[in-house]
Amino acid sequence: MKKLLCAIASAVICCGQAIAADAPAAIEQGTVWLDTDGNPINAHGGGMLYHDGKYYWYGEYKTGETVLPDWATWEAYRTDVTGVSCYSSPDLTTWTFEGIVLPAVKDDPDHDLHPSKVCERPKVVYNAKTGKFVMWFHAESADYSKACAGVAVADSPTGPYTYLGSFRPNEAMSRDQTVFVDDDGKAYQFASSENNQTLYINELTDDYLRPTGRFTRNFIGMSREAPAVFKRDGKYYMLSSGCTAWDPNKAELAVADSVMGPWTTIGEPCTGPEADKTFYGQSTYVLPVQGKDGLYIAMFDRWKKTDLADSRYIWLPIDFSGESITIPWRESWSPSDF
Ligand code: DGJ
Repeated sequence: MKKLLCAIASAVICCGQAIAADAPAAIEQGTVWLDTDGNPINAHGGGMLYHDGKYYWYGEYKTGETVLPDWATWEAYRTDVTGVSCYSSPDLTTWTFEGIVLPAVKDDPDHDLHPSKVCERPKVVYNAKTGKFVMWFHAESADYSKACAGVAVADSPTGPYTYLGSFRPNEAMSRDQTVFVDDDGKAYQFASSENNQTLYINELTDDYLRPTGRFTRNFIGMSREAPAVFKRDGKYYMLSSGCTAWDPNKAELAVADSVMGPWTTIGEPCTGPEADKTFYGQSTYVLPVQGKDGLYIAMFDRWKKTDLADSRYIWLPIDFSGESITIPWRESWSPSDF
């Protein structure tokens, strides 16, 4: 990946100018991607923050053995909680490990971040009013009955993050989740709720730390997970997966004129081989690339359920050029292609 990342770096530096047609591919789907220390990038179920000229990639830091607990009546494969990792990059190419910015809490078995619990899908947003970096994640018990959101806050993108605790936003279950900040600075948490049947959009307070109490129920009974939200030309989009534990299923794209809804499902955006299985991936974030007008990267996890630490990544540009919005398969690609 390092060699590939160098290629992408020069491509991005040249942004806006002609780029050598034979520039090597920068993103190779599903391979092991290395950080600047040569270690595999470990940031699953992740999200991105662009702040002061740098990208920050946060995700689940998964290490150690994957186990299927004795009590499991479904494929509740798990690794112990290690914490939330952060990587930084000036160009989406070379990634520097910034550490575990929200680490596991090993000495308190009741803590949400104890290794025996579940910590998934961290997303960090910057609050311009408070100057704080706010992290939301899915705080779970090992058996997935807790269904809460956890919130942590920091003064710097790389932490350290102070954990504030967990709760059910608007008294409703909160599992797979993301946070979206609109152009007016208002933030919203999107969360799979009601036993993953219905997706809640919870408006957040001005400090982004709590729900305001205003929320909408969307995709009722449609079992949407893994929400990834973005805005383009004044419209809101949500990429999501179905609900089949760690196994892949068909992605769907939905659109809305207003962030709280109503939302309309457009259909399956992926095209190409295994598109109906989202290329064996599951959405986690959509990144609008800075300085590359129109380049939105759909980020997916390719979970390896029996060895979660070896799960991989798929990043694909979204194609807005045709009649419909698609995510075509590309084995490898470079932003310089755009
Ligand atoms: C699907 C979710 O999208 C993942 O984040 C994780 O919670 C798995 N289910 C657990 O089975």
